[in-house]
Amino acid sequence: MYNLLKGKRGIITGALDQNSIAWKVAEKAHEEGAQFVLTNAPIAMRMGEINGLAEKTGSQIVPADATNVDDLTNLFTQSQEILGGKIDFVLHSIGMSVNIRKKIPYTELNYDYYQKGIDVSAFSFHKMLAVAKKLDAISEGGSVVALTYMAAQRTYPFYTDMADIKAMLESIARSFGYHYGLEKKVRINTVSQSPTKTTAGSGIKGFGDFYDYANAIAPLGNADAESCADYCITLFSDLTRMVTMQNLFHDGGYSSTGVSDIVMQKMGLEE
Ligand SMILES: NC(=O)c1ccc[n+]([C@@H]2O[C@H](COP(=O)([O-])OP(=O)(O)OC[C@H]3O[C@@H](n4cnc5c(N)ncnc54)[C@H](O)[C@@H]3O)[C@@H](O)[C@H]2O)c1
Repeated sequence: MYNLLKGKRGIITGALDQNSIAWKVAEKAHEEGAQFVLTNAPIAMRMGEINGLAEKTGSQIVPADATNVDDLTNLFTQSQEILGGKIDFVLHSIGMSVNIRKKIPYTELNYDYYQKGIDVSAFSFHKMLAVAKKLDAISEGGSVVALTYMAAQRTYPFYTDMADIKAMLESIARSFGYHYGLEKKVRINTVSQSPTKTTAGSGIKGFGDFYDYANAIAPLGNADAESCADYCITLFSDLTRMVTMQNLFHDGGYSSTGVSDIVMQKMGLEE
């Protein structure tokens, strides 16, 4: 432990169960000395798993549907009261596509589901930032991180509408990052994470095979949820105080590798 977040106050969204990336971020943030509020959609809390995390990290839970501006206003207001001051870091770890869940191909997307996916997975980020800015709830130099996937830059057929939605999420980080940075020095970045075995990840058609493929391409192998959490902690810390408006790949080198020896061998292209 490095006490990287000592004295910092945060809001962590998206911890559904022990596999969630946000769950690991909460554990690491606690280890690094932060105090934070946990939040998720009320419906996601019905299994009650988040209570264990709250207990373990000494955190309070404020339910909020991230598509609902009133819920988000309450989240930022209550979090400041609970934690005793402005918020220093926020994790947006929210993603959902009904089209993916229902295995609908990209060329036949259902537009109501598409709209829902955009609302939950991208607009929610803008709404969160807009609410925080309006309430002046984030401290100077504060850091906001959202999680994304490389399908925003390159096509992965199975990722269907989430590819477009992640492209929007990354654009919001840049656009809002400009305005919030200029006015309040708040930093906004996206972390583009390897395929990770979580509820959201495993819901994608062919995820298991693709997970193995990505693992065989990346020189360091797939980055797991725990190392993603470590990376997020560095972005919440003061050590990265001049990093903003970036999409940062956290993928064991996958995004910079054309092909690997292992994949060549598997394809029978190499002796
Ligand atoms: N798992 C992967 O392979 C992978 C790879 C790259 C990026 N990501 C991204 O990481 C983030 C976290 O996903 P995860 O893999 O930890 O899966 P997860 O299923 O554990 O987390 C997704 C979270 O989104 C929450 N959520 C859904 N609708 C919501 C709403 N309306 N309001 C508030 N919260 C809501 C869920 O309750 C859940 O906690 C997502 O943005 C996902 O796209 C995941």
